[in-house]
Amino acid sequence: MDRIIIRGGNRLQGRLAISGAKNAALTLLPCSLLTDEPLTLTNLPRLADVDSFGHLLNELGVSTTVKRGSNGEIGRDMTMKAKVIASTVAPYDIVRKMRASILVLGPLLARAGEAKVSLPGGCAIGNRPIDLHLKALEALGAEIELAAGYVKATAPAGGLRGGRIGFPVVSVGATENALMAAVLARGETVLENAAREPEITDLARCLVAMGAKIEGIGTERLTIEGVDRLHGARYQVMSDRIEAGSYACAAAITGGDVELLGARIEDMEAIISGLRTAGVTVTETGEGLRIIADGKLGPLTLSTAPFPAFPTDMQAQFMSMLALADGASVLTETIFENRYMHVPELARMGADIQVHGRTAVVRGVDHLIGAEVMATDLRASMSLILAGLAARGETKVHRVYHLDRGYERLEEKLSAIGADIERVGND
Ligand code: UD1
Repeated sequence: MDRIIIRGGNRLQGRLAISGAKNAALTLLPCSLLTDEPLTLTNLPRLADVDSFGHLLNELGVSTTVKRGSNGEIGRDMTMKAKVIASTVAPYDIVRKMRASILVLGPLLARAGEAKVSLPGGCAIGNRPIDLHLKALEALGAEIELAAGYVKATAPAGGLRGGRIGFPVVSVGATENALMAAVLARGETVLENAAREPEITDLARCLVAMGAKIEGIGTERLTIEGVDRLHGARYQVMSDRIEAGSYACAAAITGGDVELLGARIEDMEAIISGLRTAGVTVTETGEGLRIIADGKLGPLTLSTAPFPAFPTDMQAQFMSMLALADGASVLTETIFENRYMHVPELARMGADIQVHGRTAVVRGVDHLIGAEVMATDLRASMSLILAGLAARGETKVHRVYHLDRGYERLEEKLSAIGADIERVGND
């Protein structure tokens, strides 16, 4: 297994291109199952999770062709064609590696009338049940059975029918599955208390480009008028607001000056407001966002919540930054119950963090010290990279495969703006 070695202390400076959004890609890829015509996604990030999703689609009978990105250096384009659905089973071996595999459930059910998907099970950041996905599909007429670790969904004779779904909790994945199923259901579907993350908007726009009828895009109430069939399309994946936010923290924690090319202010307001309150200057440039920090950071009080509030996927990275702020910060994690696994690792680098249930109190320290640390999940891994960039001495981050799931060419991007970072093989 690879590890990443960082010698901290360099001020980051320069321009860095933001890749296509992982979480948008993972819900756009299964849209290919909804039509027998080709769907081309451009600006797909080059990530392990995107490759795994491609393999899953291949298992289901989708042909995939990958080309060099039309966007220059980063990303790539993929054309998918599901002429026929050859299998409706998403096997355990693929689902266990990538929870987002559950997003084939809605599209398979809508197009083929049935789907059997391995239950994703728990994961490092919490239990992550899928009850809301299943209830939403039931509201569209599906029959659900759970057996031998699989969920089997069957559409009624004549296919799914429109329904009214009120989500008791905002769920990104359940909203995505319901939306992808409803576009081919007979009649009208209303999704209330739907997630409105920018990735959901990206999904809805792609479905509209494929011929779907959706109203209320970007709001918590989506109305879908089912159509008989969808057609092919070419669609550009949005830029990754979490990758952009992570590199903004890298600029902030090193007292740097970095322009994030392609970052979109409208997707990042809570992140930007947090950075500004901490004393970081964020300005819009014609090509993205510029992040300027002078080495001094102030404390913050932050609570994670569904969009447009502060994203749980940025909590770990902000924690590293605040570990060096002048004063005490209070972070509350309201989305996942076990998302502080980076805390003991940061503590090994000298951070002063105390966790009380869902709240973490971060008392800023004068400096962090490089150490050997273990990545536990994707965003936690990034928090360790950030700490390493600012720490005195050398930091070795083990279990880098977590990072490869979500950050395209991390060490290349960071070294191009001045970081002393390298990947070493064979852990
Ligand atoms: C997605 C993102 C993930 C992000 C999360 C929250 C992808 C691939 N992943 O995950 O990066 O951290 O949104 O913004 O896009 N819940 C239930 N029952 C369900 C589904 C969810 O109780 O059936 C709960 C979850 O346990 C959690 C909350 O709802 O507490 C939100 O989860 P959800 O929005 O569904 O997260 P994901 O879609 O899994």
